[in-house]
Amino acid sequence: MRVLVMGATGFIGRRLVRALDDAGHDVVAFSRSASEESFPEGVEPFEGDLGEPDSLDGLCDDIDVAYYLIHSLTSENFAELDRRYARRFADSASAAGVDRVVYLSGISGDEENLSPHLASRREVESVLAEGSFDLTVLRAAVIIGPESASFRIVDDLTDRLPLMLVPKWVRTPCQPIGVDDAISYLVELLDADETRGETYDIGGPSVWSYESLLKLTAAEKGKRVFIVPVPVMTPGLSSHWLRFTTDVQYAIARPLAESMRNPVTVDPEMDLQDAVPIDQTPIKDAVRKALAGA
Ligand SMILES: NC(=O)c1ccc[n+]([C@@H]2O[C@H](COP(=O)([O-])OP(=O)(O)OC[C@H]3O[C@@H](n4cnc5c(N)ncnc54)[C@H](OP(=O)(O)O)[C@@H]3O)[C@@H](O)[C@H]2O)c1
Repeated sequence: MRVLVMGATGFIGRRLVRALDDAGHDVVAFSRSASEESFPEGVEPFEGDLGEPDSLDGLCDDIDVAYYLIHSLTSENFAELDRRYARRFADSASAAGVDRVVYLSGISGDEENLSPHLASRREVESVLAEGSFDLTVLRAAVIIGPESASFRIVDDLTDRLPLMLVPKWVRTPCQPIGVDDAISYLVELLDADETRGETYDIGGPSVWSYESLLKLTAAEKGKRVFIVPVPVMTPGLSSHWLRFTTDVQYAIARPLAESMRNPVTVDPEMDLQDAVPIDQTPIKDAVRKALAGA
């Protein structure tokens, strides 16, 4: 199959390109910084910017399946940009007759009270659903890997703050997934036709909280952290100390921290594991691998 990866130079994109190439697909890799050096030999780089429509000419020609991995969290007006870019891509994929699109979105256990980041991820789902292709949406919570913005925040916090005063949302349930498992689901669903037009949650084998994830990460580094939830601390206030405690760009860290109030666990009725069973990696192993930079 000829497969397009939108956002191919990102944390998920680079690994997905490699996995699709290994699986024998012809891969076109799109982003603003796509170049031959970024990808394995044989992968076709396509440098373009969703903000510049002319740069998208020919992007979707002869493409069977496209993965959409774009977000604009680094911008103040990320919701508006994400809406506009998703519409531009959906129009271009529809006009070119792309058969299938797969979008990696965010889990939320509370559809009524979404953080701005998760609300924007949901909006992109709706915009893409207007395309003429079959859309499959996978929703994930924290994806654990060395370049993941959300995991880097956890990693940096355990390095820099042995004692943390945090909002009570630190006890929100979350179901992280190792990046290798996320990639397996993304690639293997291509062989499961029943996943066309459907929305699924993906997660690791167990439910955690941000608190227990912080403690696990610290323990894997031979450290201990003391976490004290403080009821009066708002997510907005708590996100301010991220300026000093993580190297992740504040514009990205803040909306991610604000999303901590939403429980993010797999709904058993939407679990992709039923349609696309994989050998799930224990979170402890995924954390260990991420800390080793793999
Ligand atoms: N990481 C997680 O823990 C996690 C969890 C749940 C869901 N997700 C979802 O997974 C998807 C991928 O996330 P990620 O962590 O891989 O993100 P990422 O590392 O930030 O990658 C984003 C990609 O989008 C490209 N991009 C951004 N703006 C662009 C534009 N205007 N035109 C063309 N390319 C553009 C970037 O490349 P350039 O900057 O070079 O253009 C990059 O390749 C997102 O939909 C995210 O919501 C991620």
